[in-house]
Amino acid sequence: MQTEIIKIIEGGISGDKEKVYNYAKLLADNVKKDGNDKFSKRIIDLLNNKKGKLTSLDSLMAKPVDTESRAEMVEISNPQLSTQDIILDKYVEEEIDSFIKYYENRDKIVLSGLDSNSSLLLYGPPGCGKTTIAQYISSLTGLPLVTARLDALVSSLLGSTAKNIRKVFEYASKSDCILFLDEFDVIAKLRDDKNELGELKRVVNSLIQNIDTFSSNSILIAATNHHELLDPAIWRRFTRVLEINKPNEAEIEKLLEVFLGNENFKTIIKNQKQLQQLKNLFSGFSHSDIKTIVQNCLKQSIVENKNETTYVDIVQEIYLYSNHSIKNEMEFIKFLLSHNITQKEINENFGFSMRKIQSIAKL
Ligand SMILES: Nc1ncnc2c1ncn2[C@@H]1O[C@H](COP(=O)(O)OP(=O)(O)O)[C@@H](O)[C@H]1O
Ligand SMILES: [Mg+2]
Repeated sequence: MQTEIIKIIEGGISGDKEKVYNYAKLLADNVKKDGNDKFSKRIIDLLNNKKGKLTSLDSLMAKPVDTESRAEMVEISNPQLSTQDIILDKYVEEEIDSFIKYYENRDKIVLSGLDSNSSLLLYGPPGCGKTTIAQYISSLTGLPLVTARLDALVSSLLGSTAKNIRKVFEYASKSDCILFLDEFDVIAKLRDDKNELGELKRVVNSLIQNIDTFSSNSILIAATNHHELLDPAIWRRFTRVLEINKPNEAEIEKLLEVFLGNENFKTIIKNQKQLQQLKNLFSGFSHSDIKTIVQNCLKQSIVENKNETTYVDIVQEIYLYSNHSIKNEMEFIKFLLSHNITQKEINENFGFSMRKIQSIAKL
């Protein structure tokens, strides 16, 4: 049994998936012979879950490179996100569920004479989960995520960008996968290229052609912060278009629950009023901002050996996130006062004198 474990570790370190698979199978057999059926079954179940992924990833080994820079144009990953890792608007969640259902039922859809392409365009402000959604769909479907590096793909050589797009699509066609064109608007920026007006047209045509002929066993996802830059002809190619916005109140509440729900910390939000205040304060921030603010808060409490986080701590971090420092003490104190933090709390938490706080409160 020790030999198998060593071989599995070796395989893992060297990225030899076949070795991991074969020795894990052997380990399962031997464990079973020793009478530990339950453990053996656990190993076999794991292998059965992952086998499809292992082979499909292997066939995606030789990545396409830009001829000029020799930079690899794709990254491959195998994300494992759970529902806890992503907080979505109810409507967006339903749309994604139905997108996946269409994909899973594509055979039935084709039989009914309908087009079964699965393509999704995500647009909206940064930090609200477009990239995360692509990872989430990859986790749910078990398809490897092939992320195109559009910066590497847009070549300085005339005519090469269109060629690179073709190479990336060809590569992604080798195996069932999710081809993810992240930061898709880079393509549209070619419009600014004064040297060659025909280049953008060539690129758009190449994209359209490749999108139209992309395998229906794979999924195409594109994401952009600047949808207004995209050519309408490209826009129309996507079977589903979703706007991913900053979080609404319900999402903010869930984000706080998840991020503050760390079992190592006690979070003290005293009442509904404070919770409502936080929801108001966080409105306008992206999911990513909220995560960073809350994590800063938790980090601060670790550094201070407190292992608890209060409403006052969170309000302070929100202020810091937007203003970068507490240089302007008057403004900071006003901010705290206007969010229902008492003069006494300000004095105790931040050490400003009561006289100073009172004089600012009177302003
Ligand atoms: N909807 C969300 N739910 C939970 N976390 C999120 C969400 N959106 C963003 N995040 C967090 O913010 C980070 C950046 O988000 P990302 O998906 O890259 O945003 P985008 O691609 O829209 O710019 C993620 O790694 C994740 O930690
Ligand atoms: Mg992104």
